[in-house]
Amino acid sequence: MKLPKASYIGIPHLFLNEVDSTNAYALSLTSNSNPIEGTAISAGFQSAGRGQIGRSWRGEPGKNIFTSIILKPAHIQASEQWVINQAVSLAVVKCLEAWIDVPIKIKWPNDIYINDKKICGILIQCILSGKKIHHAIIGIGLNVNQINFPEDLPNPTSVLREMYEEIDLIQVRNTLFHYLEDYYEKTKKLSPDLVQDEYQKYLYRKGLPTSFMKNGTMLTGTILGVDGIGRLRLLVHGSEESFNFNEVKMIINKQIL
Ligand code: BTN
Repeated sequence: MKLPKASYIGIPHLFLNEVDSTNAYALSLTSNSNPIEGTAISAGFQSAGRGQIGRSWRGEPGKNIFTSIILKPAHIQASEQWVINQAVSLAVVKCLEAWIDVPIKIKWPNDIYINDKKICGILIQCILSGKKIHHAIIGIGLNVNQINFPEDLPNPTSVLREMYEEIDLIQVRNTLFHYLEDYYEKTKKLSPDLVQDEYQKYLYRKGLPTSFMKNGTMLTGTILGVDGIGRLRLLVHGSEESFNFNEVKMIINKQIL
């Protein structure tokens, strides 16, 4: 895989054999020092990996990518932070496309899916200062060479499970850093609409009737896309409705995700 190396994402790069959570480590770095933009912390194993909405993130040692990158997006207002989620999701998609030849999708808001299964989770934690984003910690958990997953995970997959081939973690991480830099730069140079348009192209189940749980009740709507502030747009009984993350949970194969 011949791609130019990222010029600031992953520089410096701190690799820890084991840590509680690379996001927690990165957050403490930003409060105790002034790390330069692009600083990345990766680990071989996380003992207390963090997921979205208070969930955990688990993975076997030495088989996956657990990384957190520190950004200082001075060009993005706190109210526009959705563009960071889109750029990071697209960077993971592009990284995977470089290694896998099956379609990759983004399940709103930022889970990366292959064949209805989750291959990557993204946890972005922003430290705000008024209307500005002081730091954004971009946490990425990418399942690479793990074949067996705990029974209680609803729908995990990995590169190895999809491709029947182990791949080099360092090379995958370099590819990831390359695309993260590429898409982060796009948020500076392009109008956010262009990143938004590309995100919609990869949206999982776009145009398809899909079931959700909302306040304990099932709701079915056709996924139309995502609006400029990251709300999911659904066509429900002929009229359009928008939902925030946490308001609705998608149901796939009878599992609430
Ligand atoms: C999700 O719930 O889907 C988000 C999972 C994010 C996991 C990554 S692994 C690296 C970084 N450190 C953490 O503790 N979490 C993120």
